[in-house]
Amino acid sequence: MKFNAFGLCLELKKGKIDNSEKVDADLIRSHITKLNNQHIEYLRKLSLEEISSRLTSISYEKVDSLNAERCLKENGIVAFPSVFEEQVRNTDLAISQVLDIVSNFNKSEKVWDETQKYLIQKGSSRIRGYNALASYAKPVIFIRDGSDEGMIDVFNADILFPDFFNEVKNSLSEDSVTHLLSESGKRLKPKNFNLYVNKGVVNTRGFHVDSYSSQVKGFVYLSDVFSLEQGPYTYVKESSDDSTLHSLNQAISGLDKVKTEAPIIFQKNIVPMFGGKGSFIVSDQSGIHRGFPQCSDAFRAVAVMNYTQV
Ligand SMILES: [Fe+2]
Repeated sequence: MKFNAFGLCLELKKGKIDNSEKVDADLIRSHITKLNNQHIEYLRKLSLEEISSRLTSISYEKVDSLNAERCLKENGIVAFPSVFEEQVRNTDLAISQVLDIVSNFNKSEKVWDETQKYLIQKGSSRIRGYNALASYAKPVIFIRDGSDEGMIDVFNADILFPDFFNEVKNSLSEDSVTHLLSESGKRLKPKNFNLYVNKGVVNTRGFHVDSYSSQVKGFVYLSDVFSLEQGPYTYVKESSDDSTLHSLNQAISGLDKVKTEAPIIFQKNIVPMFGGKGSFIVSDQSGIHRGFPQCSDAFRAVAVMNYTQV
């Protein structure tokens, strides 16, 4: 099947790709990269006023508001600027401890190491897969490789640093939050709590979905993120239940190993989620999103709660 999309002529072939068709898969991969680069360039040219206006359209003061519920349902995302400012006031201490642990680990030749309190690993050198990492007996400090190389993802950071994260974790489990999440159509409860630390992560995975069915995460910024260079979470409004975008992107990315890449998007709907420390974002991960690539001296830290169906 051949079709034109966003100026690209694409030919889709059914079934498994054998070696003779590998060239097509490589070509598709390069088209996906090209489209993602175009979106990044587009965003870099947007004025601050335009970004602020897009952000304002999905931002609310209070978590328990009907308009916020409606916003999440319609857009797949809603933001509450600085609403958890108090709860995150001490988290810098935990973040600097993580950075020290990773810095010392990187000086060693090891690809993984384990102490009484945690497991630390580069890529999938010891534990593989999100569920295995999330359910490991100890917190796991996971240094990502591949498309988000260098990003530090601490699974169950609340167990590693209870004194610093209990307050924000409790806030993410409050009735007002779980009630808001029920607007995604399911009753949800908190599952696991991660800490993301990005320090000069200049290459990030392109626009993608985490899954094709609703999967809600709550993000709390632990550092100010007021510029593209700092690597804001970036979301495409109204993409979580857009079956046309999902079908097109699935057909294209299905030609490669990763079936959840989503380079075909409406640029006018992209929102770089700027926010101060303590800002809370609820996001349906079946919507199209990415982390904006940082500049080499940038820093961003985020607490993340993954919710699951009751
Ligand atoms: Fe994602």
